Amino acid sequence: MKIINIIILIGLIVWLFSCNSADNSYQVASPDGKIVVKFEVVQKQAYYSVLKNKNHLILPSKLGLRFQEMKPLGDHVEVISIQEKSFNETWEQAWGERRLIENKYDELTIKLRETNGKGRNFYIIFRAFNDGIGFRYHIPEQGNISEFKITDEFTEFKLPKIGKAWWIPAYKERFYESLYRFTPLNIPDTVCTPLTIEMGDSSFLSIHEANLTDYAAMNLYLSDTSMLTCDLTPWSTGEKVRASTPFESPWRTIIIAENPGDLITSSLMLNLNEPSKIKDTSWIKTGKYIGIWWGMHQNKYTWSQGPKHGATTANAMRYIDFAAENNFDGVLIEGWNYGWDEDWTVNGHLFEFIKPYPDFDIKKISNYAAKKGVKIIGHHETGGASINYENQLEDAFKFYQKYGVNTVKTGYVSDLLDGKEYHSSQYGVRHFRKVIETAASYHIMIDNHEPVIPTGLQRTFPNLMTQEGVRGQEWDAWSTDGGNPPDHTTVIPFTRGLAGPMDFTFGTFDFNNPVLPDTRVRTTIAKQVALYVVIYSPLQMASDLPENYIDNEAFRFIKEVPTDWEDTQVLKGKIGDYIVIARKDRQSDNWYVGAITDERERSIAINLSFLTSDSKYQVQIIADGEQANWDTNPTTFKYYNREVQSIDTLVIHLAPGGGQAMRFIPQ
Ligand code: NOJ
Repeated sequence: MKIINIIILIGLIVWLFSCNSADNSYQVASPDGKIVVKFEVVQKQAYYSVLKNKNHLILPSKLGLRFQEMKPLGDHVEVISIQEKSFNETWEQAWGERRLIENKYDELTIKLRETNGKGRNFYIIFRAFNDGIGFRYHIPEQGNISEFKITDEFTEFKLPKIGKAWWIPAYKERFYESLYRFTPLNIPDTVCTPLTIEMGDSSFLSIHEANLTDYAAMNLYLSDTSMLTCDLTPWSTGEKVRASTPFESPWRTIIIAENPGDLITSSLMLNLNEPSKIKDTSWIKTGKYIGIWWGMHQNKYTWSQGPKHGATTANAMRYIDFAAENNFDGVLIEGWNYGWDEDWTVNGHLFEFIKPYPDFDIKKISNYAAKKGVKIIGHHETGGASINYENQLEDAFKFYQKYGVNTVKTGYVSDLLDGKEYHSSQYGVRHFRKVIETAASYHIMIDNHEPVIPTGLQRTFPNLMTQEGVRGQEWDAWSTDGGNPPDHTTVIPFTRGLAGPMDFTFGTFDFNNPVLPDTRVRTTIAKQVALYVVIYSPLQMASDLPENYIDNEAFRFIKEVPTDWEDTQVLKGKIGDYIVIARKDRQSDNWYVGAITDERERSIAINLSFLTSDSKYQVQIIADGEQANWDTNPTTFKYYNREVQSIDTLVIHLAPGGGQAMRFIPQ
């Protein structure tokens, strides 16, 4: 990842050694001047507010930290100095939705001192970008404070009115695998972030955090009318964060957009993470995979040994053949190691990560895969027993490295890690980081299931490819509520998707569910294909059984669609209703467009001005068939070509629960 161009304008570095601002307030504006963050101390309490085009988006809201056995920082403070700086760089992503990222902001650091007690110092750092703001707390090394426990933050987000939010509950449902609720903001629950809010007057906000490092994930609750307050996920012992100086919190972030599409194209999350710690990223590759997986979720195979065991040598070789014939990069194999036969909870038998079942000849399989040019994607289900996993971590990655495995899917299916700690606690955050860093030292990429919510860390550790933390397609196999409703995939790009790539695992072509006939994938086949463009992940799975893809023309699109993009544009979108995304391939001049709708049929006109103006393009289209309908006729689709140019408008017809996938090739 190289930095293309850096112009750091330390335009106005002002250290005011004694503050003499008359009203004790300071402000920083975004480079385009539209967004302004104000900081002030009122009756010794620190506050911030945010305005766009002079209108309040966040009213004065408290800042500060609370501690165990120590006075808080934030409610008895004075400003002792400030520092301002401007920054502008363009950096290149190892992989992603856009190759080049502009990182342009103005920064304001406020240095505070407590006015009672020990006179401790702490800083609040604000960054104003054209697409939103971030702020974080910093406690420098000093005599008066070294080790401490944070019991919560004062941090508030006071909205000027009750907007409507898309939210999922924290604590009550597991692993962020929930359907989003869309209600006025007087939410009865503590909710997860990203929290996307429609404020009316063309204004959309999404509150989240960036660079979650050695800290607890932030949730939000309503402490007063339209006042969201930070709730940090606790340790089982009650405190939230164990820390010492010098200390830095994650960034609290607010993406500010005038339309829903601008939420998706915001780079705030990535820009508020550190540059890559992995210097040589040449071993990190995006790609597509199939897997011995859907068969388990549909009870055709078992993870454990027995007559229906999925991960056998013969079956693995069959999947490798299919991957090689169809140009897939990898084959995920689950259920190959000891541990699945037992009660694989933290209280029962623990997984062993270097001990294959006797019917899984890893040496033979890996040699065969290497010969065929296919990579095995390894799997480490931990059952939430993270200590057991950490004890075997080095050996487990060494083992996979020896057999040429360069990607590992990790899993933590258990309410709590090691029977007592939340996945989103500081305990979980520390564990997940350890796994990512250890994997990097073995040149292994990670696909993390049941994770803590992503916060843009893929910039710093580009081997953290993709994560679950979303109600994915597996729910369409076994969920007794019928599966994901058709609007689910029109919500998640604007909510969970803002946090980072999602391993959703679409690609269903056979819509029958032999186990639960009333539960199934509730889309058309064209929508399944369009999702490869709409929902971003650098690793994309074709999740259905290989036999269901044979001789299906729509499969060609899945084989050809890229997983790494030069550029991304959201052409149209209404959260919960529909979305149309255009992405340009990073390796060619081809553009791809994916359009999806909820349960409603609709026609959407798109302007093709994203195409190069002097070229003609052939567009290959996979569209819903005449009578297509997710409920009654999901498998019918049309495949046709036509010629277009950038001045054209294309009308896309989408069936109920339908979609359309398009590839534009310059002629
Ligand atoms: C849940 C994961 O999301 C799924 O992909 C995996 O197959 C099972 N756990 C078993 O590890």
